[in-house]
Amino acid sequence: MSTIGELLASGTVRLQRSGSESARLDAELLLGWAIGAERTAVIAHLEASVGADAEATYETGLARREAGEPVAYVRGYKEFYGLAFSVDARALIPRPETELLVAEAERVAAHKLISAPRPAGTPQVRVVDVGTGSGAIAIALASLLRRRRMLPEVSLLAVDVSSDALDLARENAVGHAVADSIAFVQADLLPAAESAFDVVLANLPYIPAGDIATLPVAASFEPRLALDGGPDGLDVVRRLLAALPEALLPEGEALLEIGYDQGTAVEAAVAALPGEWHCHVQADLSGRPRLAHVKRAAGSGVGSAAAGCVAAPERDR
Ligand SMILES: C[S@@+](CC[C@H](N)C(=O)[O-])C[C@H]1O[C@@H](n2cnc3c(N)ncnc32)[C@H](O)[C@@H]1O
Repeated sequence: MSTIGELLASGTVRLQRSGSESARLDAELLLGWAIGAERTAVIAHLEASVGADAEATYETGLARREAGEPVAYVRGYKEFYGLAFSVDARALIPRPETELLVAEAERVAAHKLISAPRPAGTPQVRVVDVGTGSGAIAIALASLLRRRRMLPEVSLLAVDVSSDALDLARENAVGHAVADSIAFVQADLLPAAESAFDVVLANLPYIPAGDIATLPVAASFEPRLALDGGPDGLDVVRRLLAALPEALLPEGEALLEIGYDQGTAVEAAVAALPGEWHCHVQADLSGRPRLAHVKRAAGSGVGSAAAGCVAAPERDR
């Protein structure tokens, strides 16, 4: 019978040889999955023996990872914003950098509820997550708002063009007990019948098509539809920006995750929108500009004279 330490050592060597850049971490996660224990427990008990069944499961996981499959697909789940999401080849694995979008979405939605007195009968704050994938953004936001007792005052719509992704998102919503609070709709960007949103959230595909072949092999297991943003990566994002004048209410705000080098192109696309818009691109924790805030000015309609993307005041940055 092998010990945890021995299996981690041999697994790490195998995964290094197969090209994993996080071989030790992958081995720890896969062994934890095989044993049915948290990674922290695995690390803390290197001398413990591992049973034959668990070792066989670990071997299966190692082989799949050696072939390039992401650890999250092998384990069948991924942590995002402190929640475990079921993941498989139907949708993109939620990434840690998208947690910034969720945190900002909670701030913006809560601000809309708190900032002005809301008389009885006031309509719900309408939020849409465009390109919901596994449902990570909409479900994490719903969970946060529920904790703050704000969920009943918010209506959440989650949209994806992929019916497979929507099935997974629905399963995750059931798993996190928010299925009754989110409407799931299959559509290309925004459903035709839906408009007048207070908040539009989107982590749409933004990888330039030509860069996809250079991504780690793990990305080849994820749906191309979730990654491919066309020649400069912004085909789908630009189409969503062009839809905002119809979709967003005055003072409505869109939060869009983008590539670190796409801020200038996004600002130019916003500047071309009819009406008055403000935009700025927020840096993530590592200082890279990754989250575009696009806000419609109060009273700005499609026919308004003032147009342009203006610099956000310093306090908003
Ligand atoms: C980068 S993934 C993000 C998934 C999820 N929001 C997340 O953050 O983990 C992009 C998602 O957008 C969806 N998508 C791509 N084009 C779309 C379109 N035109 N309309 C709606 N959804 C689209 C894909 O199917 C995919 O689920």
